[in-house]
Amino acid sequence: MAARTVWMLCALLVLLLNECSSVNGHVVEKREASDEYDFMGDDPSDDDTLNDAYGEGEEGNTENIVIVTKPQVYNVSAGSTVILECNVEPKGNSAVVQWLRNDNIYFLGSMTTLTDHRIKLVHNTSMAISNVTPSDEGEYKCVVTQKKPLTLTHRVVVTSKPNILDLSATNNGRVHEGNRLVLNCDVSGSPPPKIVWSRQRKGSHDNERLLETDGVFSLNSVTIEHVKPEHSGTYYCYAFNGVAADTRDIQITVLYKPRVHVHRQETNTALNVRTELQCSAHGEPAPYLSWYKDNQLINEGVINDDSHTPLSTLVVVPKSDSDFGTYTCVAINSHGRHNSSVELVQRPVVEDVEADGAKVAWKVHSHLPLEAVQIQAFPFGIDESVSQNPSDISVSLPQESGLKLYEMSYEISSLPAGKYEAIVKAKNSKGWSREPKPVILNIVEQSMYIQRSSVFRGAASMVTGSTTLLLTTLTYLLVRKL
Ligand SMILES: *[C@@H]1O[C@H](CO)[C@@H](O)[C@H](O)[C@H]1NC(C)=O
Ligand SMILES: *[C@@H]1O[C@H](CO)[C@@H](O)[C@H](O)[C@H]1NC(C)=O
Ligand SMILES: *[C@@H]1O[C@H](CO)[C@@H](O)[C@H](O)[C@H]1NC(C)=O
Repeated sequence: MAARTVWMLCALLVLLLNECSSVNGHVVEKREASDEYDFMGDDPSDDDTLNDAYGEGEEGNTENIVIVTKPQVYNVSAGSTVILECNVEPKGNSAVVQWLRNDNIYFLGSMTTLTDHRIKLVHNTSMAISNVTPSDEGEYKCVVTQKKPLTLTHRVVVTSKPNILDLSATNNGRVHEGNRLVLNCDVSGSPPPKIVWSRQRKGSHDNERLLETDGVFSLNSVTIEHVKPEHSGTYYCYAFNGVAADTRDIQITVLYKPRVHVHRQETNTALNVRTELQCSAHGEPAPYLSWYKDNQLINEGVINDDSHTPLSTLVVVPKSDSDFGTYTCVAINSHGRHNSSVELVQRPVVEDVEADGAKVAWKVHSHLPLEAVQIQAFPFGIDESVSQNPSDISVSLPQESGLKLYEMSYEISSLPAGKYEAIVKAKNSKGWSREPKPVILNIVEQSMYIQRSSVFRGAASMVTGSTTLLLTTLTYLLVRKL
Protein backbone atom coordinates (compact mmCIF):
# COMPACT_ATOMS: atom_id res chain seq x y z
CA MET A 1 0.00 0.00 0.00
CA ALA A 2 2.78 2.40 0.90
CA ALA A 3 4.80 1.25 -2.09
CA ARG A 4 1.89 1.97 -4.36
CA THR A 5 1.64 5.50 -2.99
CA VAL A 6 5.33 6.05 -3.66
CA TRP A 7 4.80 4.75 -7.20
CA MET A 8 1.92 7.02 -7.88
CA LEU A 9 3.72 10.09 -6.63
CA CYS A 10 6.78 9.19 -8.59
CA ALA A 11 4.81 8.75 -11.74
CA LEU A 12 3.40 12.18 -11.18
CA LEU A 13 6.93 13.55 -10.82
CA VAL A 14 7.99 11.81 -14.01
CA LEU A 15 5.22 13.62 -15.76
CA LEU A 16 6.13 16.85 -14.15
CA LEU A 17 9.89 16.69 -14.34
CA ASN A 18 10.29 14.02 -16.99
CA GLU A 19 12.94 12.50 -14.79
CA CYS A 20 12.66 10.34 -11.76
CA SER A 21 15.25 7.73 -12.53
CA SER A 22 16.92 7.59 -9.19
CA VAL A 23 13.78 7.49 -7.10
CA ASN A 24 12.25 5.19 -9.65
CA GLY A 25 15.17 2.77 -9.50
CA HIS A 26 15.12 2.74 -5.76
CA VAL A 27 11.46 2.05 -5.64
CA VAL A 28 11.71 -0.57 -8.35
CA GLU A 29 14.22 -2.39 -6.24
CA LYS A 30 11.88 -2.20 -3.30
CA ARG A 31 8.99 -3.40 -5.40
CA GLU A 32 11.02 -6.32 -6.61
CA ALA A 33 11.85 -7.04 -3.04
CA SER A 34 8.18 -6.91 -2.12
CA ASP A 35 7.47 -9.44 -4.80
CA GLU A 36 9.62 -11.94 -3.01
CA TYR A 37 9.11 -10.83 0.55
CA ASP A 38 6.37 -9.19 2.40
CA PHE A 39 7.14 -5.51 1.85
CA MET A 40 5.10 -4.37 4.80
CA GLY A 41 6.78 -6.78 7.08
CA ASP A 42 10.23 -5.64 5.99
CA ASP A 43 9.66 -1.93 6.33
CA PRO A 44 9.63 -0.28 9.72
CA SER A 45 6.82 2.14 8.93
CA ASP A 46 4.93 3.93 6.20
CA ASP A 47 6.11 7.32 7.44
CA ASP A 48 9.77 6.42 7.14
CA THR A 49 9.33 5.42 3.53
CA LEU A 50 7.63 8.70 2.74
CA ASN A 51 10.35 10.62 4.43
CA ASP A 52 12.86 8.77 2.35
CA ALA A 53 11.31 10.09 -0.80
CA TYR A 54 10.57 13.63 0.31
CA GLY A 55 12.61 14.25 3.41
CA GLU A 56 15.94 15.95 3.95
CA GLY A 57 17.95 12.85 3.03
CA GLU A 58 20.31 12.34 0.13
CA GLU A 59 17.62 11.55 -2.34
CA GLY A 60 16.14 15.00 -1.77
CA ASN A 61 19.05 16.59 -3.65
CA THR A 62 18.69 14.50 -6.68
CA GLU A 63 16.08 16.86 -7.99
CA ASN A 64 17.32 18.96 -10.86
CA ILE A 65 18.01 22.33 -9.31
CA VAL A 66 19.13 25.15 -11.54
CA ILE A 67 20.99 28.32 -10.70
CA VAL A 68 19.15 31.13 -12.42
CA THR A 69 21.67 33.85 -11.58
CA LYS A 70 24.29 34.68 -14.20
CA PRO A 71 28.00 35.18 -13.35
CA GLN A 72 28.75 38.80 -12.67
CA VAL A 73 31.52 41.26 -11.93
CA TYR A 74 30.58 43.36 -8.94
CA ASN A 75 32.22 46.79 -8.90
CA VAL A 76 32.07 47.70 -5.25
CA SER A 77 33.38 50.82 -3.67
CA ALA A 78 35.24 50.24 -0.45
CA GLY A 79 33.02 50.58 2.60
CA SER A 80 29.79 49.69 0.89
CA THR A 81 27.75 46.48 0.87
CA VAL A 82 27.49 43.99 -1.96
CA ILE A 83 25.05 41.11 -2.35
CA LEU A 84 26.40 38.23 -4.38
CA GLU A 85 23.30 36.61 -5.77
CA CYS A 86 22.77 32.93 -6.29
CA ASN A 87 19.10 32.30 -6.97
CA VAL A 88 18.03 28.73 -7.51
CA GLU A 89 14.92 27.17 -8.94
CA PRO A 90 12.75 25.69 -7.75
CA LYS A 91 12.54 28.27 -4.99
CA GLY A 92 12.39 27.38 -1.38
CA ASN A 93 14.24 24.22 -2.14
CA SER A 94 16.23 22.83 0.65
CA ALA A 95 19.13 22.12 -1.69
CA VAL A 96 22.48 22.57 -0.10
CA VAL A 97 24.00 25.69 -1.54
CA GLN A 98 27.64 26.27 -0.74
CA TRP A 99 29.60 29.48 -0.90
CA LEU A 100 33.30 29.18 -1.45
CA ARG A 101 36.20 31.50 -1.81
CA ASN A 102 39.53 30.03 -2.89
CA ASP A 103 38.36 26.58 -1.81
CA ASN A 104 37.46 27.85 1.64
CA ILE A 105 33.87 27.04 2.44
CA TYR A 106 32.14 30.16 3.69
CA PHE A 107 28.67 28.67 3.90
CA LEU A 108 27.29 25.17 3.67
CA GLY A 109 23.55 25.66 3.62
CA SER A 110 23.09 28.02 6.50
CA MET A 111 26.06 26.70 8.39
CA THR A 112 29.21 28.71 8.58
CA THR A 113 32.54 28.72 10.28
CA LEU A 114 33.14 32.37 9.41
CA THR A 115 34.01 34.66 12.26
CA ASP A 116 33.80 37.67 9.97
CA HIS A 117 30.40 39.11 10.79
CA ARG A 118 30.43 41.30 7.72
CA ILE A 119 29.54 38.28 5.63
CA LYS A 120 26.00 36.89 5.87
CA LEU A 121 23.55 34.79 3.93
CA VAL A 122 20.53 36.60 2.58
CA HIS A 123 17.43 35.14 0.92
CA ASN A 124 18.69 31.69 1.94
CA THR A 125 21.14 31.31 -0.95
CA SER A 126 22.73 34.71 -1.65
CA MET A 127 25.66 36.15 0.26
CA ALA A 128 26.08 39.71 1.45
CA ILE A 129 29.41 41.34 2.29
CA SER A 130 29.11 44.63 4.11
CA ASN A 131 31.79 47.25 4.72
CA VAL A 132 33.79 45.93 1.77
CA THR A 133 37.58 46.29 1.92
CA PRO A 134 40.16 45.78 -0.86
CA SER A 135 40.98 42.36 0.63
CA ASP A 136 37.48 41.19 -0.34
CA GLU A 137 38.45 41.46 -3.98
CA GLY A 138 38.44 38.14 -5.81
CA GLU A 139 36.29 35.25 -6.96
CA TYR A 140 33.38 33.75 -5.07
CA LYS A 141 31.68 30.51 -6.01
CA CYS A 142 28.13 29.44 -5.37
CA VAL A 143 27.94 25.64 -5.68
CA VAL A 144 24.82 23.49 -5.68
CA THR A 145 25.72 19.99 -4.62
CA GLN A 146 23.63 17.49 -6.44
CA LYS A 147 24.33 14.62 -8.76
CA LYS A 148 25.42 17.08 -11.39
CA PRO A 149 26.91 19.87 -9.25
CA LEU A 150 26.46 23.39 -10.50
CA THR A 151 28.86 26.24 -9.95
CA LEU A 152 28.32 29.95 -10.35
CA THR A 153 31.41 32.19 -10.16
CA HIS A 154 31.18 35.87 -9.32
CA ARG A 155 34.01 38.37 -9.28
CA VAL A 156 34.23 41.17 -6.81
CA VAL A 157 36.28 44.20 -7.82
CA VAL A 158 36.77 46.65 -5.00
CA THR A 159 37.22 50.23 -6.06
CA SER A 160 38.49 52.93 -3.77
CA LYS A 161 39.43 56.51 -4.40
CA PRO A 162 43.12 57.27 -4.78
CA ASN A 163 44.55 58.67 -1.60
CA ILE A 164 48.01 60.19 -1.51
CA LEU A 165 49.40 59.05 1.80
CA ASP A 166 52.73 60.79 1.52
CA LEU A 167 54.66 62.93 -0.93
CA SER A 168 58.31 63.19 -0.03
CA ALA A 169 61.53 64.45 -1.59
CA THR A 170 65.25 64.10 -1.05
CA ASN A 171 66.37 66.09 1.98
CA ASN A 172 62.89 67.56 2.44
CA GLY A 173 63.14 69.23 -0.94
CA ARG A 174 66.35 71.19 -0.37
CA VAL A 175 68.85 69.80 -2.87
CA HIS A 176 72.24 71.08 -3.95
CA GLU A 177 72.76 71.92 -7.58
CA GLY A 178 74.17 68.91 -9.43
CA ASN A 179 72.80 66.39 -6.95
CA ARG A 180 70.03 63.86 -7.37
CA LEU A 181 66.44 64.64 -6.50
CA VAL A 182 64.06 61.77 -5.81
CA LEU A 183 60.36 62.43 -5.35
CA ASN A 184 58.15 59.74 -3.91
CA CYS A 185 54.39 59.65 -3.98
CA ASP A 186 52.84 56.95 -1.81
CA VAL A 187 49.30 56.35 -2.82
CA SER A 188 46.53 53.92 -1.99
CA GLY A 189 43.47 53.14 -4.07
CA SER A 190 41.88 50.42 -6.09
CA PRO A 191 42.42 49.81 -8.92
CA PRO A 192 46.02 50.90 -8.19
CA PRO A 193 46.20 54.56 -9.20
CA LYS A 194 48.40 55.84 -11.99
CA ILE A 195 50.73 58.69 -11.10
CA VAL A 196 51.55 61.73 -13.18
CA TRP A 197 54.07 64.37 -12.18
CA SER A 198 54.20 68.02 -12.99
CA ARG A 199 56.00 71.10 -11.81
CA GLN A 200 55.55 74.80 -11.71
CA ARG A 201 58.94 76.41 -11.87
CA LYS A 202 59.66 79.20 -9.47
CA GLY A 203 58.38 82.46 -10.85
CA SER A 204 56.41 80.75 -13.62
CA HIS A 205 52.68 80.28 -14.00
CA ASP A 206 52.95 77.25 -16.24
CA ASN A 207 52.33 73.88 -14.74
CA GLU A 208 54.30 71.56 -16.98
CA ARG A 209 54.04 67.80 -16.97
CA LEU A 210 57.32 65.99 -16.32
CA LEU A 211 58.35 63.96 -19.35
CA GLU A 212 60.77 61.13 -19.99
CA THR A 213 63.42 63.74 -20.76
CA ASP A 214 63.00 65.36 -17.35
CA GLY A 215 63.66 62.35 -15.19
CA VAL A 216 63.48 58.64 -14.63
CA PHE A 217 60.08 57.37 -13.56
CA SER A 218 59.23 54.31 -11.56
CA LEU A 219 55.90 53.14 -10.21
CA ASN A 220 55.45 55.97 -7.74
CA SER A 221 58.65 57.98 -7.91
CA VAL A 222 60.61 60.21 -10.22
CA THR A 223 64.37 60.75 -10.10
CA ILE A 224 66.01 63.84 -11.52
CA GLU A 225 69.79 63.58 -11.77
CA HIS A 226 72.01 66.68 -11.62
CA VAL A 227 69.37 69.19 -10.59
CA LYS A 228 69.73 72.69 -11.88
CA PRO A 229 68.73 75.98 -10.26
CA GLU A 230 65.81 76.29 -12.68
CA HIS A 231 64.37 73.06 -11.28
CA SER A 232 63.27 74.89 -8.13
CA GLY A 233 59.54 75.19 -7.77
CA THR A 234 56.38 73.37 -6.81
CA TYR A 235 56.11 69.71 -7.75
CA TYR A 236 52.74 67.96 -8.03
CA CYS A 237 51.83 64.32 -7.76
CA TYR A 238 48.50 63.42 -9.39
CA ALA A 239 47.03 60.01 -8.69
CA PHE A 240 44.00 58.74 -10.59
CA ASN A 241 42.38 55.35 -11.12
CA GLY A 242 39.17 55.98 -13.00
CA VAL A 243 37.22 56.21 -9.76
CA ALA A 244 38.56 59.54 -8.64
CA ALA A 245 41.81 61.51 -8.38
CA ASP A 246 43.99 62.95 -5.67
CA THR A 247 46.77 65.49 -5.81
CA ARG A 248 49.44 66.85 -3.54
CA ASP A 249 52.36 69.22 -3.95
CA ILE A 250 55.78 69.77 -2.47
CA GLN A 251 58.24 72.64 -2.61
CA ILE A 252 61.64 71.93 -4.12
CA THR A 253 64.52 74.34 -3.61
CA VAL A 254 67.74 73.81 -5.51
CA LEU A 255 70.59 75.37 -3.56
CA TYR A 256 73.36 76.92 -5.62
CA LYS A 257 76.19 79.37 -5.32
CA PRO A 258 75.56 82.93 -6.45
CA ARG A 259 75.97 84.25 -9.94
CA VAL A 260 76.66 87.92 -10.34
CA HIS A 261 76.03 90.10 -13.32
CA VAL A 262 77.16 93.70 -13.79
CA HIS A 263 75.13 95.70 -16.27
CA ARG A 264 78.21 97.25 -17.88
CA GLN A 265 81.78 96.08 -17.83
CA GLU A 266 83.16 99.53 -18.54
CA THR A 267 81.61 102.84 -17.65
CA ASN A 268 82.84 106.24 -18.78
CA THR A 269 82.48 109.14 -16.40
CA ALA A 270 84.38 112.22 -15.28
CA LEU A 271 85.47 113.91 -12.07
CA ASN A 272 82.56 115.09 -9.95
CA VAL A 273 80.03 113.30 -12.14
CA ARG A 274 77.59 111.09 -10.29
CA THR A 275 77.60 107.55 -11.69
CA GLU A 276 75.53 104.50 -10.76
CA LEU A 277 77.14 101.10 -10.96
CA GLN A 278 74.59 98.29 -11.07
CA CYS A 279 74.98 94.69 -10.11
CA SER A 280 72.44 91.91 -9.79
CA ALA A 281 72.89 88.40 -8.48
CA HIS A 282 70.94 85.26 -8.03
CA GLY A 283 71.57 82.28 -5.85
CA GLU A 284 69.85 80.00 -3.38
CA PRO A 285 69.70 80.94 -0.57
CA ALA A 286 69.50 84.56 -1.73
CA PRO A 287 73.04 85.95 -1.71
CA TYR A 288 74.16 89.17 -0.16
CA LEU A 289 76.16 91.65 -2.15
CA SER A 290 79.12 93.84 -1.40
CA TRP A 291 81.34 96.14 -3.44
CA TYR A 292 85.11 96.27 -3.59
CA LYS A 293 87.27 99.00 -5.13
CA ASP A 294 90.62 97.65 -6.36
CA ASN A 295 90.11 94.69 -3.93
CA GLN A 296 89.30 96.94 -0.94
CA LEU A 297 85.87 96.45 0.64
CA ILE A 298 83.91 99.69 0.33
CA ASN A 299 80.26 98.75 0.78
CA GLU A 300 79.13 95.68 2.61
CA GLY A 301 76.00 93.60 2.92
CA VAL A 302 73.63 95.20 0.49
CA ILE A 303 70.10 94.38 1.51
CA ASN A 304 68.63 91.49 -0.35
CA ASP A 305 64.93 92.20 -0.43
CA ASP A 306 63.87 88.57 -0.21
CA SER A 307 63.50 88.48 -3.94
CA HIS A 308 66.03 85.90 -4.92
CA THR A 309 67.75 88.21 -7.38
CA PRO A 310 69.09 91.02 -5.22
CA LEU A 311 70.05 94.12 -7.10
CA SER A 312 72.65 96.55 -5.88
CA THR A 313 73.37 100.05 -7.14
CA LEU A 314 76.59 101.70 -6.06
CA VAL A 315 76.70 105.47 -6.45
CA VAL A 316 80.15 106.87 -7.18
CA VAL A 317 81.15 110.54 -7.51
CA PRO A 318 84.88 110.49 -8.34
CA LYS A 319 86.79 113.24 -6.56
CA SER A 320 90.23 112.37 -7.87
CA ASP A 321 91.83 110.16 -10.50
CA SER A 322 92.30 107.46 -7.87
CA ASP A 323 88.52 107.04 -7.62
CA PHE A 324 88.54 105.55 -11.11
CA GLY A 325 89.47 101.93 -11.48
CA THR A 326 88.00 98.50 -10.89
CA TYR A 327 84.80 98.15 -8.87
CA THR A 328 83.93 94.55 -8.04
CA CYS A 329 80.52 93.33 -6.97
CA VAL A 330 80.76 90.20 -4.80
CA ALA A 331 77.82 87.93 -4.00
CA ILE A 332 78.02 85.43 -1.17
CA ASN A 333 75.69 82.74 0.13
CA SER A 334 76.20 79.56 2.10
CA HIS A 335 77.18 77.72 -1.08
CA GLY A 336 79.88 79.99 -2.37
CA ARG A 337 80.77 83.33 -3.83
CA HIS A 338 81.04 84.92 -7.22
CA ASN A 339 82.15 88.32 -8.44
CA SER A 340 82.06 90.52 -11.49
CA SER A 341 83.75 93.85 -12.13
CA VAL A 342 83.08 97.24 -13.70
CA GLU A 343 85.88 99.49 -14.90
CA LEU A 344 85.12 103.11 -14.12
CA VAL A 345 87.13 105.08 -16.68
CA GLN A 346 87.68 108.54 -18.11
CA ARG A 347 88.88 107.24 -21.50
CA PRO A 348 86.14 106.78 -24.14
CA VAL A 349 83.98 103.66 -24.12
CA VAL A 350 82.85 102.33 -27.49
CA GLU A 351 79.64 100.28 -27.49
CA ASP A 352 77.02 98.65 -29.68
CA VAL A 353 79.21 98.31 -32.77
CA GLU A 354 77.20 96.93 -35.68
CA ALA A 355 78.12 96.22 -39.26
CA ASP A 356 75.83 95.98 -42.24
CA GLY A 357 77.76 95.30 -45.44
CA ALA A 358 80.25 98.15 -45.68
CA LYS A 359 78.46 100.30 -43.14
CA VAL A 360 79.53 100.42 -39.50
CA ALA A 361 77.53 102.03 -36.68
CA TRP A 362 78.52 102.49 -33.01
CA LYS A 363 78.18 104.57 -29.89
CA VAL A 364 80.93 106.38 -27.99
CA HIS A 365 80.65 107.46 -24.36
CA SER A 366 83.05 110.17 -23.41
CA HIS A 367 82.66 112.99 -20.92
CA LEU A 368 85.90 114.52 -22.21
CA PRO A 369 86.03 115.87 -25.78
CA LEU A 370 86.86 113.29 -28.44
CA GLU A 371 90.22 113.68 -30.12
CA ALA A 372 90.12 110.88 -32.66
CA VAL A 373 87.90 108.08 -33.93
CA GLN A 374 89.28 105.25 -36.04
CA ILE A 375 88.12 102.08 -37.70
CA GLN A 376 90.73 99.37 -38.02
CA ALA A 377 89.95 96.71 -40.60
CA PHE A 378 91.82 93.39 -40.78
CA PRO A 379 91.34 91.09 -43.74
CA PHE A 380 89.28 88.22 -42.38
CA GLY A 381 89.77 84.52 -42.88
CA ILE A 382 93.36 84.85 -44.05
CA ASP A 383 96.06 82.60 -42.69
CA GLU A 384 97.26 84.17 -39.46
CA SER A 385 100.91 83.40 -40.23
CA VAL A 386 100.74 85.85 -43.12
CA SER A 387 101.06 89.16 -41.34
CA GLN A 388 98.43 91.52 -42.59
CA ASN A 389 98.61 95.16 -41.78
CA PRO A 390 95.31 96.58 -40.72
CA SER A 391 93.87 99.42 -42.70
CA ASP A 392 93.28 102.36 -40.40
CA ILE A 393 90.41 104.52 -41.44
CA SER A 394 90.06 107.85 -39.69
CA VAL A 395 86.54 108.96 -39.08
CA SER A 396 85.89 112.68 -38.94
CA LEU A 397 84.93 113.88 -35.48
CA PRO A 398 81.38 114.85 -34.71
CA GLN A 399 80.56 118.51 -35.11
CA GLU A 400 78.72 118.69 -31.77
CA SER A 401 80.84 119.25 -28.68
CA GLY A 402 80.03 118.78 -25.00
CA LEU A 403 78.11 115.57 -25.61
CA LYS A 404 78.62 112.49 -23.44
CA LEU A 405 77.23 110.02 -25.91
CA TYR A 406 77.92 110.04 -29.64
CA GLU A 407 76.01 107.85 -32.07
CA MET A 408 78.15 107.52 -35.18
CA SER A 409 78.25 105.57 -38.41
CA TYR A 410 80.52 105.30 -41.43
CA GLU A 411 80.32 103.65 -44.83
CA ILE A 412 83.63 102.24 -45.97
CA SER A 413 84.40 102.81 -49.63
CA SER A 414 88.19 102.72 -49.62
CA LEU A 415 88.67 98.96 -49.26
CA PRO A 416 88.71 96.28 -51.94
CA ALA A 417 85.87 93.74 -51.81
CA GLY A 418 86.23 91.06 -49.19
CA LYS A 419 85.59 90.20 -45.58
CA TYR A 420 87.14 92.24 -42.79
CA GLU A 421 87.22 92.18 -39.04
CA ALA A 422 86.67 95.74 -37.92
CA ILE A 423 87.42 97.45 -34.61
CA VAL A 424 86.22 100.92 -33.67
CA LYS A 425 88.45 102.99 -31.41
CA ALA A 426 88.04 106.45 -29.92
CA LYS A 427 90.49 108.70 -28.08
CA ASN A 428 90.21 111.54 -25.61
CA SER A 429 92.81 113.27 -23.39
CA LYS A 430 92.86 110.18 -21.09
CA GLY A 431 93.76 107.81 -23.91
CA TRP A 432 92.31 105.35 -26.37
CA SER A 433 89.21 103.27 -25.66
CA ARG A 434 89.62 99.57 -24.98
CA GLU A 435 89.04 97.47 -28.04
CA PRO A 436 85.51 96.17 -28.14
CA LYS A 437 84.67 92.89 -29.82
CA PRO A 438 85.39 93.08 -33.56
CA VAL A 439 82.55 92.99 -36.06
CA ILE A 440 82.63 91.38 -39.49
CA LEU A 441 82.46 93.63 -42.52
CA ASN A 442 81.38 92.16 -45.81
CA ILE A 443 82.35 94.50 -48.61
CA VAL A 444 80.88 93.47 -51.94
CA GLU A 445 82.01 95.04 -55.19
CA GLN A 446 78.52 95.49 -56.64
CA SER A 447 77.20 96.89 -53.42
CA MET A 448 78.94 100.20 -54.08
CA TYR A 449 78.13 100.04 -57.79
CA ILE A 450 74.42 99.36 -57.22
CA GLN A 451 74.22 101.96 -54.48
CA ARG A 452 75.62 104.62 -56.73
CA SER A 453 73.80 103.60 -59.85
CA SER A 454 70.57 102.08 -58.67
CA VAL A 455 68.47 105.13 -59.51
CA PHE A 456 69.83 105.66 -62.99
CA ARG A 457 70.66 102.17 -64.11
CA GLY A 458 67.76 100.29 -62.65
CA ALA A 459 65.63 100.33 -65.79
CA ALA A 460 68.50 99.27 -68.00
CA SER A 461 69.33 96.28 -65.87
CA MET A 462 65.70 95.24 -65.90
CA VAL A 463 65.64 95.23 -69.70
CA THR A 464 68.74 93.10 -69.68
CA GLY A 465 67.09 90.73 -67.31
CA SER A 466 63.97 90.35 -69.41
CA THR A 467 65.98 89.83 -72.57
CA THR A 468 67.90 87.05 -70.95
CA LEU A 469 64.68 85.42 -69.82
CA LEU A 470 63.24 85.71 -73.31
CA LEU A 471 66.30 84.15 -74.89
CA THR A 472 66.23 81.30 -72.43
CA THR A 473 62.59 80.64 -73.19
CA LEU A 474 63.21 80.64 -76.92
CA THR A 475 66.12 78.27 -76.60
CA TYR A 476 64.00 75.97 -74.51
CA LEU A 477 61.18 75.97 -77.06
CA LEU A 478 63.59 75.29 -79.91
CA VAL A 479 65.18 72.44 -78.06
CA ARG A 480 61.78 70.96 -77.36
CA LYS A 481 60.73 71.13 -80.98
CA LEU A 482 63.78 69.15 -82.12
C1 LIG B 1 34.23 48.81 -12.79
O1 LIG B 1 35.19 49.78 -12.38
C2 LIG B 1 36.19 49.98 -13.33
C3 LIG B 1 37.18 50.90 -12.73
O2 LIG B 1 36.57 51.96 -12.11
C4 LIG B 1 35.59 50.52 -14.60
O3 LIG B 1 36.58 50.71 -15.55
C5 LIG B 1 34.57 49.53 -15.11
O4 LIG B 1 33.95 50.07 -16.23
C6 LIG B 1 33.55 49.25 -14.04
N1 LIG B 1 32.66 48.22 -14.51
C7 LIG B 1 31.37 48.26 -14.32
C8 LIG B 1 30.62 47.11 -14.84
O5 LIG B 1 30.83 49.19 -13.75
C1 LIG C 1 14.08 30.47 2.49
O1 LIG C 1 13.83 29.19 2.99
C2 LIG C 1 12.60 29.08 3.67
C3 LIG C 1 12.51 27.67 4.28
O2 LIG C 1 13.18 26.71 3.51
C4 LIG C 1 11.46 29.34 2.71
O3 LIG C 1 10.27 29.30 3.38
C5 LIG C 1 11.64 30.75 2.11
O4 LIG C 1 10.68 31.01 1.15
C6 LIG C 1 12.97 30.86 1.51
N1 LIG C 1 13.18 32.23 1.09
C7 LIG C 1 13.54 32.54 -0.14
C8 LIG C 1 13.68 34.00 -0.42
O5 LIG C 1 13.77 31.72 -1.00
C1 LIG D 1 86.80 87.73 -7.70
O1 LIG D 1 86.95 86.41 -8.17
C2 LIG D 1 88.29 86.05 -8.49
C3 LIG D 1 88.24 84.67 -9.08
O2 LIG D 1 87.56 83.80 -8.27
C4 LIG D 1 89.15 86.14 -7.23
O3 LIG D 1 90.46 85.81 -7.56
C5 LIG D 1 89.07 87.53 -6.66
O4 LIG D 1 89.78 87.60 -5.44
C6 LIG D 1 87.63 87.93 -6.42
N1 LIG D 1 87.57 89.34 -6.02
C7 LIG D 1 86.96 89.72 -4.92
C8 LIG D 1 87.00 91.15 -4.63
O5 LIG D 1 86.38 88.95 -4.18
